[in-house]
Amino acid sequence: MKTKVGIIGGGPSGLLLSQLLHLRGIDNVVLEKHSREHVLGRIRAGVLEHGFAELMREAQCGARMDAEGEIHEGFHIAHDGIRSRVDLAAHTGGNSVLVYGQTELTRDLYDARDSMGGTVIHDAADVQPHDITSPRPYLTYRLGDEAHRIDCDYVIGADGFHGVSRRSIPRGALREFEKVYPFGWLGVLSRTRPVSPELIYARHERGFALCSLRSQVLSRYYIQVPLSDAVEDWPDEAFWEELKRRLPEDVAGELVTGPSIEKSIAPLRSFVAEPMRHGNLFLAGDAAHIVPPTGARGLNSAASDIYYLYHALADHYEKGEDAGLDGYSQKALARVWKAQRFSWWMTTMLHTFPDAIAYDQKLQQTELAYLLSSEAAMRSLAENYVGLPF
Ligand code: APR
Ligand code: PHB
Repeated sequence: MKTKVGIIGGGPSGLLLSQLLHLRGIDNVVLEKHSREHVLGRIRAGVLEHGFAELMREAQCGARMDAEGEIHEGFHIAHDGIRSRVDLAAHTGGNSVLVYGQTELTRDLYDARDSMGGTVIHDAADVQPHDITSPRPYLTYRLGDEAHRIDCDYVIGADGFHGVSRRSIPRGALREFEKVYPFGWLGVLSRTRPVSPELIYARHERGFALCSLRSQVLSRYYIQVPLSDAVEDWPDEAFWEELKRRLPEDVAGELVTGPSIEKSIAPLRSFVAEPMRHGNLFLAGDAAHIVPPTGARGLNSAASDIYYLYHALADHYEKGEDAGLDGYSQKALARVWKAQRFSWWMTTMLHTFPDAIAYDQKLQQTELAYLLSSEAAMRSLAENYVGLPF
């Protein structure tokens, strides 16, 4: 098979790029390791910044997102029994975020790829990029017992943190920056009315907690847990009790509990690989960088990569201009690092660090006190949370 752009990974990054390129008449193929059911079975975050939502609309995938997603003009920070609202709209000149689950967004992208006859190959085993520094790179993979090959102009590594793309770049050509946090998030999804129509990020000495939602009948809650904990250590009852302890009393009193329909633990990690290009292989999304979920930046950082790549590839094929492709890594990384900084800052301010000395704890309390008392600090938080411009 022959195509222009070979995309490894059928997550939000790969599918969104595929859809945008297709609409510009740029032929592409997506190779996904797992089945569609598997991809759509993953519960991930659900806060979209404006730029992401715009890109979904441009990709002609915005209808259900606009109908069912919720516009949130603020969220709350709880600590020491009280709750303060961060007014995103007031601090950003009317900006907001859209609460719409990544799972639903991925489903919309698959539906769009199907209806336009896009080529998305599932269960592609042993995907491997070859000759990526040559002008004629190609991909090989297996479907069952059959070996396949796709020749292309460019390879996009959109295969997530554990994918093959980043690993196929020679060690000496890549620099990795990583910070591993000494805790994880235990997440629970339940068919219950959310405790608050807006998100609540709670700092508590027992550990961080987050009240989030997918809709007004579907709640998503998280608590910080030690890395040594397993899901089996947390029966539903224990989870709800611990969540209540970490919330202000009035909020805990309102909490509607119910059986969990999904429960998982995710470790927190910050990671960036530089550069995001090697020859004709371009990395995008989780394949190149990940953030702890505290600032809701993960999916949004992937979206900005796709925005830059999409425009760079369109310029290449439509105008014969390569400045976008040549500048991709530098441009994408500039924004990626700002998202890294913001996620690290939110994480550091709101979590309990097992090894923190008394001085660290005082500074952490002061950071939060300053934020909640300063118009300038609140504006900075809001500006980052709704998403910096592309
Ligand atoms: N070959 C083919 N596909 C692969 C391979 C491989 N070797 N390895 C992984 N994949 C697939 C995964 O199965 C997955 O469906 O690549 C896809 C990558 O998707 P995500 O991990 O969701 O990454 P991405 O598309 O960049 O999405 C952005 O940012 O913070 C996160 O939650 C956010 O998952 C979201 C991500
Ligand atoms: C979620 O709803 O899953 C969610 C929301 C906000 C975050 C992280 C996760 O910061």
